[in-house]
Amino acid sequence: MRIIITFLILCFACKNIHAQNKYHQKSDKDLLKIINKNFTDAAAQYKVLMQNLPADKFPKTYFPITDKYEFSNSGWWCSGFYPGTLLYLYQQTKDTVLYNEAMRILNVLKKEQFNTGTHDLGFMMYCSFGNANLINPSSVYKEILLNSAKSLSTRFDTTVGCIKSWNGKPNEYLVIIDNMMNLKLLFWATEVSGDSSFYRIAVTHANTTMKNHFRADNSSYHVLNYNAATGAVLQKKTAQGFADESAWARGQAWGLYGYTETYRETKDKKYLDQANKIAQFILSHPDFPSDKIAYWDFNAPDIPGALRDASAAAIMASALLELSGYVNKKLSKEYFKTAQLILKKLSGEKYKAAAGSNGGFILKHGVGHMPNKTEIDVPLTYADYYFAEAMIRYKQIVNK
Ligand code: GLY
Repeated sequence: MRIIITFLILCFACKNIHAQNKYHQKSDKDLLKIINKNFTDAAAQYKVLMQNLPADKFPKTYFPITDKYEFSNSGWWCSGFYPGTLLYLYQQTKDTVLYNEAMRILNVLKKEQFNTGTHDLGFMMYCSFGNANLINPSSVYKEILLNSAKSLSTRFDTTVGCIKSWNGKPNEYLVIIDNMMNLKLLFWATEVSGDSSFYRIAVTHANTTMKNHFRADNSSYHVLNYNAATGAVLQKKTAQGFADESAWARGQAWGLYGYTETYRETKDKKYLDQANKIAQFILSHPDFPSDKIAYWDFNAPDIPGALRDASAAAIMASALLELSGYVNKKLSKEYFKTAQLILKKLSGEKYKAAAGSNGGFILKHGVGHMPNKTEIDVPLTYADYYFAEAMIRYKQIVNK
């Protein structure tokens, strides 16, 4: 039985981590030790978090100064990250307390498979049920994931060529760069069902976004408003960034990750080119700091005093590790080295929470929604999720 479980966990690691790398990367042996300790520490942290979680709620954030949590219901866009992180930590530690907690919360989450009011079903359902299905493939998970893909597909419009992100006013068809992260669920659905309509929606969305969302310098706008009757772009603006013309750091990270993933799923080189262009925007930006933990917006007015966003950094690290496996040797080394430095910095005391602190979250200093003045300089579930994923990718590359 143990052998079978170990085999299934190894399959999960290979299929979900996407860190094949044909070059020998100069790894930092200290970092490997630090990462192994990070997983032990993170498992202990998530046990603190789970003890503080009301039965049908999901963690959103925690405010250290007031010692207060913020929780959400299952419809919040981040609800999949908590079970997803528990499963990543279980994969590394084999701690069944974490696995059992993931199973408990998946049961609360599963009703979202029929939610057609959000574009975030990829985040919510693939990071959670997708991971669970890789550890323990089951027809129940498959059905939930296929229903989720069907629900997401209802938000696609052929005239615009995009999945609608937010339900705006009647004259609004709003699409955000973050939506690139929801396509994996659709690629998976075609692979499993043989129904190519999911795949076609995903590539059409990626193509339309590639055409309209990017500036000449390869940074992206956060929000586009389309004319639903003609597909014309009406407005290019921001919701979570500093300004309409600024480069919101997490948006750049979502684009980088999303196009890397779309290349993986399609093998179409134009998506790899797009991912490389985004990477070059980030890496060569004069305000990308030397420790590689991005400011919350590349154009924040108070740089170098501006807040950093640990979530953007974790997403960038994970994406760069995957991308380093698809490019030439020079780029591969540049991406790997950058990701390695990000992981090292996130593992340091400035960003990694001390045992028992931070409400049980792993990382500190994320920026959720600055213009809204919400979730500023706090732990975030997606920072933890992509940090865990990036560390697994790193281990896979250096231990190959
Ligand atoms: N998808 C919303 C965010 O990145 O904050």
